[in-house]
Amino acid sequence: ASATLPFVDHEELVKHDKTTDCWILLYNNVYDVTSYLEYHPGGVDELMRGAGTDASELFNEYHMWVNYNSMLKSCLVGPFTGNRTKLP
Ligand code: HEM
Repeated sequence: ASATLPFVDHEELVKHDKTTDCWILLYNNVYDVTSYLEYHPGGVDELMRGAGTDASELFNEYHMWVNYNSMLKSCLVGPFTGNRTKLP
């Protein structure tokens, strides 16, 4: 299935920074978390801090133990091809 996923570059990622259209980059993958927003235990505003960006560092600051990989399986857009700028 992964062979059919579209690659996402930085230019595309930054376009999705709204509560109605929210993508975030976590490590090598971009997720569309729009439908997850209202279920985020930390609240919409917290998750929106990462909207349209590389949210890996923020994510790790709060809960590096959370298994986003498994939780966001159905929200996966595709692998990121741009330069990851905010990584530890
Ligand atoms: C909880 C921030 C992304 C899953 C929280 C809390 C904050 C936070 C502040 C509340 C902690 C507390 O009150 O105890 C953020 C930020 C994110 C982000 C800034 C990115 C910009 C995500 C993502 C997921 C996620 C992508 C899952 C796919 C969770 C879960 C909790 C939580 C499961 C509850 C953790 C627990 O109680 O152990 N988050 N979050 N978060 N977040 Fe996030």
